[in-house]
Amino acid sequence: MRILFLTHAFNSLTQRLFVELEALGHQVSVEFDINDSVAMEAVALASPDLIIAPFLKRAIPESIWQRHVCLVVHPGIPGDRGPSSLDWAILQGKSRWGVTVLQANGEMDGGDIWASCEFAMRQTSKGSLYRNEVTEAAVKAVRLAVERFQAGDYQPLPQDQLKTSEPGQWQPLMKQQQRQIDWQQDTTELVMRKLQSSDGMPGVKDCLFGQPCHLYDARVEKVLRGKPGEVIARSGPAICIATVDGAVWVGHLKLSEANTPFKLPATWLLADRLSELEEIEPTADSGYREIWYEQADGVGYLHFPFYNGAMSSRQCHALLEAYRAAKQCDTQAIVLLGGPDYWSNGMHLNMIEAAGSAADASWENINAIDDLALEIITTESHLTIAALQGNAGAGGVFLARAADEVWARNGVILNPHYKDMGNLYGSEYWSYLLPRYVGEEHAQIIIQNRLPMGAPQAAALQLVDRVIDERGSSFLVQVRKLTEAMIAAPAFAKRLHYKRARRTADELQKPLSQYREEELEQMKRNFYGFDPSYHIARYNFVHKIAKSRTPLTIARHRRTDNQWKCAS
Ligand code: COA
Repeated sequence: MRILFLTHAFNSLTQRLFVELEALGHQVSVEFDINDSVAMEAVALASPDLIIAPFLKRAIPESIWQRHVCLVVHPGIPGDRGPSSLDWAILQGKSRWGVTVLQANGEMDGGDIWASCEFAMRQTSKGSLYRNEVTEAAVKAVRLAVERFQAGDYQPLPQDQLKTSEPGQWQPLMKQQQRQIDWQQDTTELVMRKLQSSDGMPGVKDCLFGQPCHLYDARVEKVLRGKPGEVIARSGPAICIATVDGAVWVGHLKLSEANTPFKLPATWLLADRLSELEEIEPTADSGYREIWYEQADGVGYLHFPFYNGAMSSRQCHALLEAYRAAKQCDTQAIVLLGGPDYWSNGMHLNMIEAAGSAADASWENINAIDDLALEIITTESHLTIAALQGNAGAGGVFLARAADEVWARNGVILNPHYKDMGNLYGSEYWSYLLPRYVGEEHAQIIIQNRLPMGAPQAAALQLVDRVIDERGSSFLVQVRKLTEAMIAAPAFAKRLHYKRARRTADELQKPLSQYREEELEQMKRNFYGFDPSYHIARYNFVHKIAKSRTPLTIARHRRTDNQWKCAS
């Protein structure tokens, strides 16, 4: 079928559905929901068999839903309606939640139900639930709804005929009033629910050192105690705020009145107010751990769950140090695990935007990532594996490819391209790594197509070596099993020997320093040259400026080469 996505943005859920439906043989084209007339024009151009709205903030125009079946993906259980579904589910401490695919009509989220899927709630942020449980449930529900639509004889269920014992209900937009923390009353558990129901956006409005701000990136502190509402310690990027019965860490803030009105590390923003505070060396129970290492049965595991997958120069330096320390351990393999939500999204664009000179900060950041990539590529002592539990984008994908093997959870989305960030050339030794691991032909496909890909597609292009059909802790168990089997295999020593020999031969053919120099020469132009595209694209990304049109890479129905129509 020809399926048109009407969506507010090409976010992770939309990308995943795009990849899944294309893999099923459907043709998918995307239009951003900018205004009614643009949406109507898109539908006229696309003449789709089916319209899907994976992530919409406005109602679909009546002229569209009256003529076409429009399936809305709603992150709530059947009967639930309203714009803050997941926020309410977290704040109200629901143990189960779901995704419902319903047909658009004149009532917001009130249409007939085509499919739904439930999941158990996890105590984590809204963003993490959205990128994991909600996305998996949405894939199942949308696949079922599309199958039913295609079958032609399915009768969707009107909401007034719902037979579940506890159907959802209409819930209004959640306001800051409901999210607000009463530091003198709220328990740690309630504080966490408020913070988690508001993360990644809009955050919880609060006030620190007399400055209005929004709080993000919360974790429970198990040891420290203090006067409720007071900042009592710091650790890495985070500050610790005492509650009535414990304390929480807040890793990121947005200062409403600063000239950097976007999320930044808390200790960076409040640096001049924190000099008296105790710095906590993080452990599993106390402090805010950004990077940690564990070791078992001859394998070292490095975790680096950086917030939003963004890697600043400071974080790259710290990770490089941790990686070098891991290399000193008596192990045979090092597994780079990133975090559960993201493996890496490359340079930290918010930190760059906040710097005095964005060009200098970009230069420093790309060099810091390159140093890390170089250390991984040139590792002779260990087998290295990048195990992707979460998504990776831009330089993050190529940093993963610096390892000997890349393993990805089935469901992970990769965006192995830089061009959407103002035609950034990119570095991380991609010009060596891609031909080396995927070959010239696949390298061209990866670099040119500027589209997200799922783990199976990435494996078909050899960007990923192994797809793992497990999620959460089962993924980690599987990674452990596979790595242990690998180092126990009789051919392991030979494999390390071959790896060293291949690296030596490659170095003789063209040194890594030359690849880096050539890539950075182009990056210098991006950062310091007369074309400001990268700086504009980064500004728009960080300040969340809505796109005024859909890129032709995904709006296939608007392409003059008529790719959409020809293929049909
Ligand atoms: N630096 C800083 N923040 C980043 C980031 C980066 N490199 N990549 C993602 N983020 C943030 C987003 O701003 C967003 O923040 P929010 O919590 O305030 O909403 C959050 O991470 C999630 O990103 P989003 O774009 O909503 O996720 P997605 O899964 O829909 O899209 C990407 C993933 C990778 C396609 C997209 O985030 C992206 O293009 N990132 C930039 C990659 C890049 O160009 N890096 C620099 C070159 S190496």
